[in-house]
Amino acid sequence: MAIAVYPGSFDPATYGHIDIIQRAGSLFDEIIVGVLNNSAKSPLFSVEERVNILKRVTEDVPNVQIKAFSGLAVNFARDCGAQVIVRGLRAVTDFEYELQMAQTNRVLAPDIDTMFLTTNLEYAYLSSTIVKEVNAFQGDISKFVPPFVAEVLQEKYKQR
Ligand code: PNS
Repeated sequence: MAIAVYPGSFDPATYGHIDIIQRAGSLFDEIIVGVLNNSAKSPLFSVEERVNILKRVTEDVPNVQIKAFSGLAVNFARDCGAQVIVRGLRAVTDFEYELQMAQTNRVLAPDIDTMFLTTNLEYAYLSSTIVKEVNAFQGDISKFVPPFVAEVLQEKYKQR
C-alpha cells in the first residue's frame, strides 16, 4: 500500500493546498496531511483549528487523513508507515528551500523519498501569508480559500 504524507503549516489551508491534497489522493492509496504543531512559528490558528479546517475542506477526498504532528517530518512519515513525503512547488523561489529540506530528510531517512507536485498555475502565486494579509485589510479572499476558510479567517480577525 502506497502511503504519502503531506506536511506543512496550513495556517490556513488555501485552494493551492487543497489542489495538492486532491492530486496526491489520486496518486497514492492514502494521503496523510501532517499539520505542524510548532509554537515557535506563532501561527494565527491553533493546531486543532488548522486540523479541523483541513478536515472540513477535504471532505470530498475519500483517502485522506488529517493529523497534527510535532518534531521531524521524517519521523511523522515513519509513524504513518509512509514511503513518500509530498510537497507542492509553486515557483523557482520555493525550490532552494524545498531542495534543502528534501536533501536533509533524505540523509535523515534514506528510505523515505520526497515527491514534488507542481502547483496548479491557477494557484501558483498563492500562500497562506498572502491570504492572511489580504484578509487583514478586508480584501476579497474568495478566490484564494473555500467559503468556510474565509468565514473562520474573518471571525479570527473580528476577535483581534
Ligand atoms: O507549510 P510550510 O511551513 O512550508 O511547511 C514546512 C514544514 C512543516 C514541511 C517543515 O518546516 C517541516 O518539515 N518541519 C518539521 C521539522 C523537520 O522535519 N525539519 C527538518 C527538515 S529541514
